[in-house]
Amino acid sequence: MCGIVGYFGPQDPKEIIVSGLKRLEYRGYDSAGVAILHDDKFKLVRASGKLGELQKKLATESFNGRLGIGHTRWATHGVPSERNAHPHKVEGISLVHNGIIENYQQIKSQLVADGVQPSSDTDSELVAHLIARKVKVTGDLFKAVQQVLPELVGAYSILVVWEKQPDTMVAFKNGPPLIIGVGEKETVVASDVQAIISCTNRVIYLEDLEIARIRGTKVELFTAGGEPIHREIKVINWNPEQIEKAGFKHFMLKEIHEQPRAVANALAPHINVDSQRTQLTGVGFGCASFEELERLDSAKDALLTAEKLSAIERIFIVACGTSFYAGMVGKYLLEKIAKIPVECDIASEFRYREPVIPPRSLVLVVSQSGETADTLAALRLAKSAGALTMSICNVRRSTIDREAHGHLYMNSGPEIGVASTKAFVSTLAMFDVLAVYLGRLRKAIGEIEERQYVEAFLEVPSQMEAVLAYDKFFAEAADRLKAFKGLLYMGRGVSYPLALEGALKLKELAYMHAEGYAAGEMKHGPLALIDERMLIVMVAPKDQHYEKTVSNLEEARARGGKIISIGTGNDANLKSISDYYLSLPMADWTVNPLLEAIPLQLLAYHVAEALGYDVDQPRNLAKSVTVE
Ligand code: M6R
Repeated sequence: MCGIVGYFGPQDPKEIIVSGLKRLEYRGYDSAGVAILHDDKFKLVRASGKLGELQKKLATESFNGRLGIGHTRWATHGVPSERNAHPHKVEGISLVHNGIIENYQQIKSQLVADGVQPSSDTDSELVAHLIARKVKVTGDLFKAVQQVLPELVGAYSILVVWEKQPDTMVAFKNGPPLIIGVGEKETVVASDVQAIISCTNRVIYLEDLEIARIRGTKVELFTAGGEPIHREIKVINWNPEQIEKAGFKHFMLKEIHEQPRAVANALAPHINVDSQRTQLTGVGFGCASFEELERLDSAKDALLTAEKLSAIERIFIVACGTSFYAGMVGKYLLEKIAKIPVECDIASEFRYREPVIPPRSLVLVVSQSGETADTLAALRLAKSAGALTMSICNVRRSTIDREAHGHLYMNSGPEIGVASTKAFVSTLAMFDVLAVYLGRLRKAIGEIEERQYVEAFLEVPSQMEAVLAYDKFFAEAADRLKAFKGLLYMGRGVSYPLALEGALKLKELAYMHAEGYAAGEMKHGPLALIDERMLIVMVAPKDQHYEKTVSNLEEARARGGKIISIGTGNDANLKSISDYYLSLPMADWTVNPLLEAIPLQLLAYHVAEALGYDVDQPRNLAKSVTVE
């Protein structure tokens, strides 16, 4: 979950590496460091804490070399401290690592027995020792890495440099991503394209157990056994402006405001506006012209087709965190519209519970980053069980995207705030389309119904714009809201996962106690929590559950709870029993969750802001969870 950047080229490596690390800080912010060539030696500068601490130290440093590496850390082995910060330098070797070396105890015992005294508590430093020992024999960094690779067990991506070869970087990985940006006069290696696109949009994706030898601007890939690999350079379509804050105080706020566009982008490829019908386009859905098809050439047999999809008898949705809650909404949609049984699982449970996956099952994995370790493991498990798989990812060519048989894309653009917002609503939009598309395939809905759904979907982006006006309300109310001892979020039907999502947002950003519940469960326990210091957030749109939800709200009010209710239109009834009433536009039940998400996100954002917390980088978290 750490971020890696390496740079070789004519620009100042310090500037490029630090700005790259800034883009990757969402991956971890316990410490940061750089090793940059200066007078033919790697000068190491590291600092505990966020990148700003490193920047302070670097302000007075200059470097005259063209090569350097940097790292921003999410601590696994060893507490966050300067001593445990990367890069690790062992003799002339400097190394940065993302991931976990699982056999590090064994490696450490061997090294210590040989007289090595590690200077940190990390697993990463041990790899630097192994390479430093080998390079003495091989006299070549690439060969040394080749010999060390078989000794490593675990999930890792590593970038290493050696003073004796001052134009060379060697990158290798098993698990977490590493991408190589190939400019005309420069080369950038990073954990994510966001750290590359200000230099170049031409990239090569390193695959597991491959080694990249980068000499100046010459990039060569090899298998672990030393066989050369030809890999085409891909051109990516994200641009540098998309990763700026565009005048917003935080990325999260910007991303909340980008949601109408994100949803429109998610829907666009899958709705034929003329016929008002759904069409699933992309790899696996018969669009052979898509560039993705060419990279999945070898997997053609396994690709999803409409024919294969219509034979599906059961769907498993598997994901983590916010993506899991989006999946829960997906379950309601798919079962109700497409009349197909759906199970929804947390990936870390699914992968270990020995799930029974019957023939003709589709396993649908959802992941914004496409790199979440548990979701990836669940996908691999499903494939090995013979299931058809489909991913809904935001990051194209991420590992999950590459490995699934079929693909849907959130199309949200880069999401940088650690708290997921626009990827969530884009996923909901994808589930809307998928449910209706499968409903048609399975003849569970007719043409007229399909058109009605599509009309409702197309209206959502502009309805979302209207809901964004609650930004001002929460900015003003946040000081009062932050004083509550806890928040209880409730909803029914598709609004139940929204209650869970609202509570998660508040917990991760404002560090306040919050619970999400199905409103019907209130009498089974949570009612005991309610007193005048408890704020109830009730998601109560005018849908089939409305009356029951309102009864639950009455019960909460009778126990003294303060109430924010989120309803539809000018609902005098809800208004009269709530302390704050937030009105959403009248919409179809299938799209209510997309509208409900906005006030819940804004509430968490502004309360966290009012409490003075770092909204984009909440404590202890990282955006991309690439370890279990
Ligand atoms: O990249 P993914 O969608 O697989 O990430 C899953 C979760 O880690 C993520 O949604 C997490 O819960 C967010 N911080 C929530 O805001």
